[in-house]
Amino acid sequence: MPSAGPVISAGIVEKAPAKINLALHVTGRRDDGYHLLDSIVTFAEAGDLLTVAAACEDSLALSGRFGATLAADPKGTGDNLVTKARDLLREALRARGLQTPPVAIALEKNLPIASGIGGGSADAAATLRGLLRLWDAELPADELATIALRLGADVPMCLKSRPLRAGGVGEAITPLPAMPSFAMVLANPLKAVSTPEVFRRLDRRDNPPISSPSQVADREAWIAWLSTLRNDLEAPARALIPEIGTLCDMLAESGADLVRMSGSGATCFGLYGDYAAAEAAVRHLSQQRPHWYLAATRTFAGETS
Ligand code: C5P
Repeated sequence: MPSAGPVISAGIVEKAPAKINLALHVTGRRDDGYHLLDSIVTFAEAGDLLTVAAACEDSLALSGRFGATLAADPKGTGDNLVTKARDLLREALRARGLQTPPVAIALEKNLPIASGIGGGSADAAATLRGLLRLWDAELPADELATIALRLGADVPMCLKSRPLRAGGVGEAITPLPAMPSFAMVLANPLKAVSTPEVFRRLDRRDNPPISSPSQVADREAWIAWLSTLRNDLEAPARALIPEIGTLCDMLAESGADLVRMSGSGATCFGLYGDYAAAEAAVRHLSQQRPHWYLAATRTFAGETS
C-alpha cells in the first residue's frame, strides 16, 4: 500500500455516504450489455470518509475496518476508483490549462467492499468533489457527470447523495423532492458479490418500470409504496449467496417494516420505526452473527456538493 507523502496543507474532508437502492427494477438492456434500470435511491449516514490535502507527491492511504481488504485487492490500490477519479479529473482540468498539484488522499474505508451500497462509487464521487475544492477548480455540471459516469454507473448519483430516482444505466437522475427520514440497519455477510455475475444471472430483463404512487406523504405511505416494489437483482444474488436469504429473514424477525437487498448485494437493509429499534436490532443480530457487517444508521440528511 502506498504510504501518504508529506502533507503540505490542511486536509479537506468529504463524506462518502452509502447508497441504498430502496427499489430497483431492471427494465431492459442496452446493446453494449449494460442494463436499463428504474431505481429509487437514498443515502445513509453510514459511509466512508475521504481526506485530500496538498502534498509533495501523490499518495493514497487506507484505513478503517475494510481498508486492509481494499489494499489486498489483487488489482492493487493503483487501480481503485479513488486513484482513477483523481487521474480522470486531473486530465480534464489540465486540458483546461488548470493546475492540479500532487495530493495526499486518505480513505477511511468503513463500508464493505463490493457490497451493493456503492462504497467505491461514493469514494470516487467524494474524490471528485474533494479535489475540485482542493484545487479550487470548477467544471460544468455535465462534464463532471460525464467523468463520474466513466468511473461507474452509480458514481453520478453519488455526487450529491440526495434521494433520487435513477433511470438509464443509473445516470439519468431525477431528484426526489421529499423523503421521510428512515432509521435503518445495514447487514452484510461479508461475501463480496460480482455485479456483472448477478446481472448475467437475471431471468428477465424487461420488467415493468416503477409505478409512481398518487401520494406518498408520510413514512407509512412510503413503506406501503416501497413494499409494492422490488429489487430485481435479489433473486440472482440470493442464488449466488444463500446467506442473503438468511439475513433478510433475520432482519424481518428483528422488527423491520421493510427488508430488501441493495444494488447487486449482498448488503440488505431493514427500515425500522425509530433509531433505537435499529440499534436494538444490531445488538441482537451481532450476538448471533458477530462477524457480519451490521450498522444502525439513518438516511443521510444533508447533501454532498
Ligand atoms: O458501471 P459499473 O462499473 O459500476 O458496473 C459494473 C458492471 O455491472 C458492469 O460492467 C456491468 O456488467 C454491470 N452493470 C450493468 N448495468 C448497469 C450497471 C452495471 O449491467 N446499469
